[in-house]
Amino acid sequence: MKNIENDMSIPLLTITTPAGSYDVLVGPNLLQELPARLQALGLSGTLWLISDGQVYPHHGAAVEGLLRGVGYRIESYAVQSGEASKDLAVVSKLYDWMIGGAVERRDVVLALGGGVVGDLAGFVAATVLRGIALIQLPTTLLAMVDSALGGKTGVNHSLGKNLIGAFHQPRLVLSDTNTLATLPSRELRAGWAEVIKHAVIRDAGLFELLEQAIGDQGLGIGRRASSMPPIPSPQPPIAAIIRRAAQVKVDVVNIDERETGERMLLNYGHTLGHALEALTGYGTLLHGEAVAIGMELAAQVALRMELWGPDSVERQRALLQAYGLPTAIPASVDPARLLDLTLRDKKVRAGRVRWVLPTAIGSAEVRDDVPEDLVRTVVEAAGATRSAD
Ligand SMILES: NC(=O)c1ccc[n+]([C@@H]2O[C@H](COP(=O)([O-])OP(=O)(O)OC[C@H]3O[C@@H](n4cnc5c(N)ncnc54)[C@H](O)[C@@H]3O)[C@@H](O)[C@H]2O)c1
Ligand SMILES: [Zn+2]
Repeated sequence: MKNIENDMSIPLLTITTPAGSYDVLVGPNLLQELPARLQALGLSGTLWLISDGQVYPHHGAAVEGLLRGVGYRIESYAVQSGEASKDLAVVSKLYDWMIGGAVERRDVVLALGGGVVGDLAGFVAATVLRGIALIQLPTTLLAMVDSALGGKTGVNHSLGKNLIGAFHQPRLVLSDTNTLATLPSRELRAGWAEVIKHAVIRDAGLFELLEQAIGDQGLGIGRRASSMPPIPSPQPPIAAIIRRAAQVKVDVVNIDERETGERMLLNYGHTLGHALEALTGYGTLLHGEAVAIGMELAAQVALRMELWGPDSVERQRALLQAYGLPTAIPASVDPARLLDLTLRDKKVRAGRVRWVLPTAIGSAEVRDDVPEDLVRTVVEAAGATRSAD
């Protein structure tokens, strides 16, 4: 077995929390390394692989084969694909399966899938036997740059999303970018919204890389905006871009594990985005698509607050559109209702909505002094543009 301690081919990201530190690996062919990485972590118990009905048929057997090949006992369970699986009834089924199978404290949960599987399996790992080891194996772009990092796990309640959960840090996050080859292209595009978000709030260099990569078929984005310059070569490889976007979340989590200040910046585009998701009915707009529209509207707010110039707003919009993301409010959405719901967002503190607003490409701040009338003007203007289309 190759000595992974000395393998410098993959630059390491590390998350450090009071509960311990763990590596975050992003790159092609990384699942091959999983057996050695588990051994290096001293994990030798039964592996409980939790996946979903879309991911498991593509990648489950390969993971099982690799691990059985070095002598691990592995049990697998595929929940139904989709947000509805983030439910206590599903958690309960997973408990039955694991406890019925004599799970032990030294065992390990492997979460192979997108954010749904990561949140669900993470919550099961956090709670079964009061907590066992967790390994995140994200297979969506969103999970690689966002949900698999930082230790938030949980399920939904009928009264709201993510209302039941626990912080449970994984022992390792291993993002094999090859798995993205089977991800539906709309899901991939939705993931780019979070990557662009990370660039805008914290990494101007990443923003430029994303601009340069426009048109790269490897990124799953077929078209190039006509206003964009020709594609420079060599292309930045997709894994390097994803790793850099993951780095933004890693840095934020390292500064601020439990979302008090810095972590709030990750909510850029989400204030209006969440309201849009709720108004259109969850599933109509993918989360990333709603966030893209939310970023466009937040940019308009920042413009009117004189925090951001028109050139930056334009650059962000061009980038979102080049990655196949929407920037206009869907025709079915009533601007007045959108405004109403936004002003009741759960991040409201003392009656004020907290907005994450960009101040430059690569930096943002949290503001609670955005006048309601200003938001109204932005949303109504966006609504008017939409119906004129
Ligand atoms: N814990 C956190 O910090 C955090 C942060 C952001 C989002 N989230 C959560 O993440 C969830 C959304 O995650 P998501 O966007 O990854 O959705 P998802 O897990 O539902 O995956 C999207 C779809 O793609 C399929 N899929 C996933 N990987 C695939 C692959 N490689 N090949 C083929 N199909 C594949 C899934 O089966 C699903 O149908 C939400 O529940 C959200 O609340 C959590
Ligand atoms: Zn998001």
